[in-house]
Amino acid sequence: MRTYKIAAIPGDGIGTEVVAAGTKVLEVCARRDGFAVSVDQLDWGSERYKKTGAFMPERGLDLIKDHDAILFGSAGAPDVPDHITLWGLRLAICQPFDQYANVRPTRVLPGIVSPLRKVSGPELDWVIVRENSEGEYAGVGGRAHRGLPEEVATDVSIFTRAGVTRIMRFAFELARSRPRKLLTVVTKSNAQRHAMVMWDEIAAEVAQAYPDVQWDKMLVDAMTMRMTLRPETIDTVVASNLHADILSDLAAALAGSLGIAPTANLNPERKFPSMFEPIHGSAFDIAGKGIANPVGTFWSGVMMLEHLGEKGAAARLMRAIERVTADQNLHTPDLGGKATTEEVTVAVCDALLGDNQ
Ligand code: IPM
Ligand code: MG
Repeated sequence: MRTYKIAAIPGDGIGTEVVAAGTKVLEVCARRDGFAVSVDQLDWGSERYKKTGAFMPERGLDLIKDHDAILFGSAGAPDVPDHITLWGLRLAICQPFDQYANVRPTRVLPGIVSPLRKVSGPELDWVIVRENSEGEYAGVGGRAHRGLPEEVATDVSIFTRAGVTRIMRFAFELARSRPRKLLTVVTKSNAQRHAMVMWDEIAAEVAQAYPDVQWDKMLVDAMTMRMTLRPETIDTVVASNLHADILSDLAAALAGSLGIAPTANLNPERKFPSMFEPIHGSAFDIAGKGIANPVGTFWSGVMMLEHLGEKGAAARLMRAIERVTADQNLHTPDLGGKATTEEVTVAVCDALLGDNQ
């Protein structure tokens, strides 16, 4: 039987709850569609850091480099500075595994209400491609004269021709694979006159190979207005690491809830495993209450199944998710409902088993 080795890293906060739910759902998907998943649960996260001084074991990446995929929950704890967690866990996986394409689909799922008055559903159907290996998250910079009046701190954005070219190609390919074949390249080349100008130039060069894709360029500030006021004019979007980070929270909010939004951190060449995670983070205010919305993790599971080549199972899981979101009784508190993580999970499993398409 086809068996996929999945590394599950629940991490912190509600990460543990949603990854447990996601694992359950993936197992039902596998049973339903005639393959198997073998899931290794890893205790990497802030608790481990507080006990041992490291988020993951020393040769941690060696333990998972041959897995088929990673299911990640969240990283972040109230008593550990955020930059320590981010660099100690999430980026410590994304960067060495060269997961340079971060893909964030956004849609208004059935039963979910967008805060945008004019959006009933189909007007908002986007995929944001986030450059995930360099840019503003390159980690280059430093501090000197600490604590003195002349203290200085720098964070230097790094844009390489290779890095920009590969993310542009990825974005044009993705745009081409979608019905509208429409790509918006987000930039800030009016103010940032070096790297962002190169970014624009490379976009134009790569575009030559995709005459069937219609593309335009948009300054990031203007893009926030366009997303809010003319969402129907957008399909695929490519942006730098930080720009896409910001735009994807806006996208999630406009689609009704951050609790639903999924992500894939892809190494498209498949030299390393790719990593799938909900966008929402550790949400310590609701951790342990059993009310976290597991839909962001399930949708990330859909992306994982697509990546693994299990297209039928991916489509079946997406149908199951949509059947469940359509029912207001199965909405968790972030969506204004009263359902628990467990109830939503059971409902998605039932919908999977009852799906006869
Ligand atoms: C995201 C998150 C992370 C990021 C945080 C948790 C560091 O906001 O995945 O969008 O900024 O990359
Ligand atoms: Mg973010």
